[in-house]
Parts: sequence; C-alpha cells; structure tokens
Amino acid sequence: MRTRVLGDSKRSMETRIIKAQSALNEALAVLERGGLVAIPTETVYGLSADASNGAGVARIFEAKGRPRFNPLIAHVANMNMARQVAIFDPLSEKLAAAFWPGPLTLVLPLKPGAPVHDLLTAGLGTVAVRMPKGFASELIGRLGRPLAAPSANTSGRISATTAQSVARELGGKVDLIVDGGQAAIGVESTIVKVADGNVLLLRPGGAATRDIERVIGMPVMRGTSGKVEAPGMLLSHYAPNARMRLNADTVNAGEALLAFGPRRATGSENASSTLNLSDAGELTVAASNLFEYMRRLDASGAAVIAVEPIPMDGLGEAINDRLKRAAAPRDGD
Ligand code: TXA
Ligand code: MG
Repeated sequence: MRTRVLGDSKRSMETRIIKAQSALNEALAVLERGGLVAIPTETVYGLSADASNGAGVARIFEAKGRPRFNPLIAHVANMNMARQVAIFDPLSEKLAAAFWPGPLTLVLPLKPGAPVHDLLTAGLGTVAVRMPKGFASELIGRLGRPLAAPSANTSGRISATTAQSVARELGGKVDLIVDGGQAAIGVESTIVKVADGNVLLLRPGGAATRDIERVIGMPVMRGTSGKVEAPGMLLSHYAPNARMRLNADTVNAGEALLAFGPRRATGSENASSTLNLSDAGELTVAASNLFEYMRRLDASGAAVIAVEPIPMDGLGEAINDRLKRAAAPRDGD
C-alpha cells in the first residue's frame, strides 16, 4: 500500500473514506473477500470483518495489535441471526427485546455450530453479541452473517467516534472506511454477562445500568471476583500520550483542561487549552464528545490533561470508567 508521511505520530491516511449513503455494495464486496471495513455504529466506529472468515478475523487482531486472547463482539442484524450465534434464556430475551438494536452487548453461552470463527471467541464457551443500529445493521443484513467488530482503534488507545479518527488510527491498515458522521452515543456498548439467572456488569457503556435494572426488575451484579471478566478490560486502556489528572478542582499552569458543566475549576484561566464536554452539564452530550476531546487535548501537546469531576449517574458511569482507564499507569503498549 502507498504511504504518505504526514509528520511525527500520524499514520498514513491513504485508506479510502466513502459516505455511508453509497457504501453498501462496496463494503459488502470487501467483506466477502475477507477484507476489513471500518464502519459507523451508534456507539463508536467498528473495525469489521465477516465473523465466519478466519483470515478476516485474524486480520482484525493484526491491524489493531490486539492480543489473541481478547475476544471480539459478534454483531447481528436480527434475532434470527442472534439465535444462531448464542443460546438465549428468558432473561437475555428480555434484555434483547428492550435494548436491541442499541448499545447493549450480551455475553451468552456460545451456540454449537455458530457461524463465527473460534478466533472471535478466543476459544471461550461464551460469545459477546450485539445488534447495532443504522448502516452496520443494514450491512450485516445484506451479508447474511455476523460481523466481528472491535472498536476501530489501535489496541489500548482511545476509540474512534469519527471516520477521520479511524483514518488517523488505522489508515493504511484497513481496506475501506465508511463515514457515517459522528457516532451518536460516543462511548462503547455496555457489556453484561447473563448466566444462572443473574446479570453481571462487565463494562459500563452506552446503556445506563439503571435502565437495565428497570428492565430486569433486579440489581445488576458488579464484578467482585477481581479477575478480568471481559478480557479486554485491562486497567490501562484508552491511553493518551498526556497524563490524565482526574476530579481536578484546580488547574495548574500549562495543563490542558477537559471541563464539564457551567462552573470552572479554580485556576482554569491557567489552562493551555480547554474543551468543555458539555457546557450545560448534560452527560449524553459529554459521552458523545469524550473521546474526540481527549484526542484533541492530547494533540495539543500538553503533558497533563486535568479533568473536572463528572457525576456518576446515567452515562456518567461509562464516562468515569473510560477516564479512569485513561489515567491508569501504562502497561507497556
Ligand atoms: O460499542 C461497542 O461495543 C463497539 C462497537 C464497534 O460495537 N465494540 C467494542 O468492541 O467496543 P471491543 O472489542 O473494543 O470491546 C469488546 C469487549 C472487550 O473488552 C472483550 O474482552 C469483551 O468485549 N468480550 C468479548 N467477548 C467476550 C466474552 N465472551 N466474554 C467476556 N468478554 C468478552
Ligand atoms: Mg475497544
């Protein structure tokens, strides 16, 4: 592939970007020959391949630099397809009926003979299934098979919420990028594991935990075992180059400021640059801006990004989870 040098940390951007409205046939052709297509979903952009094509799925791991033990989500277009992939019990049926298509991923027992390659599940007896909205759904419906799609970023880095960010992260490593505009939700799906009549939260995300609890009429359990339940939920993740300083109520000279709401931290006038996730303090707006603003402040070259406190309700749980991971000590990638 051709490479264009764009300066220090930027990757080549020679992968073609086409608008979602006219992308269906071309995307389909790439997937059918085992290629990689970056696609918009309502949460974040996904790096997709035909889930049943081992070579295609292997290329996902390669392009992201993702460890093979970290399984991928199988994206489906309808319940028929979902039932070919996983075994549903009454509880998971209820969750699917309430949230699909939408930002909820269910980890369920893998159905024998499921049309997904072993690489996707990393050999686990369970599979993560999600039914996305919009272009992704249409594409999967046309393909007639599930799509494997992790977030379209290099492993350990911030997820992409625009086609341009995908190009910066993975340009040259994917065959096609489909541009569906800015992702509506902006953080990844909530992941729950449904087993033995319980619902266990593996990753907070675009579906608020309390909305899940309302649907199932009981509390969602949170990991108590201490072991990593979603293998991809390593503590250090979403790593910007800058150090992240969370819950900042003061700002030091030269720090970049990731603000939230109408009131500023003390010393905010000292910030080298400021972006406000939501002037009005709306968590849904903050979620949709989160990754892009982290990326932009990081690109400003500041050594530290101070982050104002963000409440834990609704999407605040997912936002705080991603910030905590972005602030964690790096594990070498
Ligand atoms: O919103 C989303 O979920 C996006 C869009 C593209 O759909 N996808 C996404 O995929 O965030 P990814 O691969 O970046 O994150 C999926 C997470 C990983 O942490 C992985 O370890 C976990 O799901 N996972 C996948 N299969 C699993 C399984 N069988 N059991 C437990 N965790 C699983
Ligand atoms: Mg990811």
